[in-house]
Amino acid sequence: MVIPENSSIVIFGASGDLTFRKLIPALYHLYANKQLPASFAILGASRTFYSDESFRDKLRRSMQELEETDPATLDAFMAHVHYQSFNISDTHEYGALTGRLDELSEQYGFTQRNTLFYLATPPKLYNFIPACLAAHGLNDESNGWKRLVVEKPFGYDLASARQLDKDIHAYFAEHQIYRIDHYLGKETVQNLLVFRFSNAMFEPLWNRNFIDYVEITGAEHLGVEGRGGYYDQSGAVRDMFQNHLLQVLSLVAMEPPAQINADAMRDEVFKALQSLEPLSEDDLHNNLVLGQYTESQVGGKALPSYRDEPGVAEDSRTETYVGLKMFINNWRWNGVPFYVRTGKRLPTRVTEVVIHFKQTPHPVFGKNAPENRLVIRIQPDEGIQMSFGLKEPGAGFNAKAVNMDFHYTSLEETQMLTAYERLLLDALKGDATLFARSDAVEACWQFVEPILQYKDNGKALYGYACGTWGPKEADHLLARDDHVWRFPCKNLTDTEYCEL
Ligand code: BG6
Repeated sequence: MVIPENSSIVIFGASGDLTFRKLIPALYHLYANKQLPASFAILGASRTFYSDESFRDKLRRSMQELEETDPATLDAFMAHVHYQSFNISDTHEYGALTGRLDELSEQYGFTQRNTLFYLATPPKLYNFIPACLAAHGLNDESNGWKRLVVEKPFGYDLASARQLDKDIHAYFAEHQIYRIDHYLGKETVQNLLVFRFSNAMFEPLWNRNFIDYVEITGAEHLGVEGRGGYYDQSGAVRDMFQNHLLQVLSLVAMEPPAQINADAMRDEVFKALQSLEPLSEDDLHNNLVLGQYTESQVGGKALPSYRDEPGVAEDSRTETYVGLKMFINNWRWNGVPFYVRTGKRLPTRVTEVVIHFKQTPHPVFGKNAPENRLVIRIQPDEGIQMSFGLKEPGAGFNAKAVNMDFHYTSLEETQMLTAYERLLLDALKGDATLFARSDAVEACWQFVEPILQYKDNGKALYGYACGTWGPKEADHLLARDDHVWRFPCKNLTDTEYCEL
């Protein structure tokens, strides 16, 4: 196990939700598993006033509410946590930060000033903080590496993403910038690569000659959960589709990299994204479905409509569902439809990729022979299901569909890192393989730009009741091609029981 070098981790926006719910728990687990460096300091920074002790107390209480923790380990971890209150939006106040980093460096006996700056602030500060850091020499790598982790959203559209990139690149080189897409930190998303490129039996079939179509689903059963103010400015296209789902799609579609390293991997991801067929006016009319959830009763509970959520405009036209049929213009995928959907307040939480293989060239056992299908389950009940035809026992030669399942839970003793654990660890080690490169982020924005314009022009937005699989128009997308969306259950094994 490679342990990162001694370093400081500065979290901007330390009093926010992300720090409490994701970053500190992830760092605590890494610490408990002895994956953090021998000497490390965590410095929370934001405007809210805390002393080191009061910040630690608040974090401690929040950790204890989230999970069971070992009190001694938690105390030992908290001893590494510090806090600096200052106005992040005022460049003159950054002296307080440098002063504090000098003190910590002395206290921890750092010989190199390795520092990871994590931007967990509102996005409007993403352009500003790097400039302030640079003004105080905190981008200078002559005495230890300096890395910048940037949370999503990276930009609001193509123009703002380009501008943000330009602004950050004015002070930090690409090798110092780590753009987080937490889906890339998920074990099962990374497994797409290993599954595809380590199995000789799947890769030869992974192309237009054998694959009929591909479905990618990112369904959530929760609504906007108190984030209405943010979400109403964002919508499903920006919140889930432009980043998480297109990243997953790129791993399903990319060519094998010659090696697994940041450059080789990200070159192939970029090539896949660059090959997305641009959406024409016709595609926007025929192949795109935008929806918004309406009130309904789910399991005896009344759920409000999106427009009744706090922070959402009462006449909002923001989409909480997007379904799209899209194509990839290259030798491998030409003509194979990818149906991609994501939405809030759907019947269950499930993310999965479904590969539908073509029928055999000659239907010896009748036209309705079962299809060969692979379900790659990203979450929950992580695993892989392969469906194939089997002779139905008894007279005749009828084929029936059966499944072979693999569930990650069957890997006993295996400890899966959460997405934030994996990504924080990689950033500390300087491994950018699982971080989005600027060209890929731009390619994603470029692809969704026509959708953003289309929705801004007030085009069709369909209602769907909470707890349903989105607008019925999304079913038509597939029905036109004689397909239906797979009905995904919470559990991967859908032949025995189906829990929503
Ligand atoms: C975030 C979105 O990036 O991803 C949220 O902002 C969404 O709206 C979340 O709920 C989904 O992540 P996960 O890991 O729960 O699938």
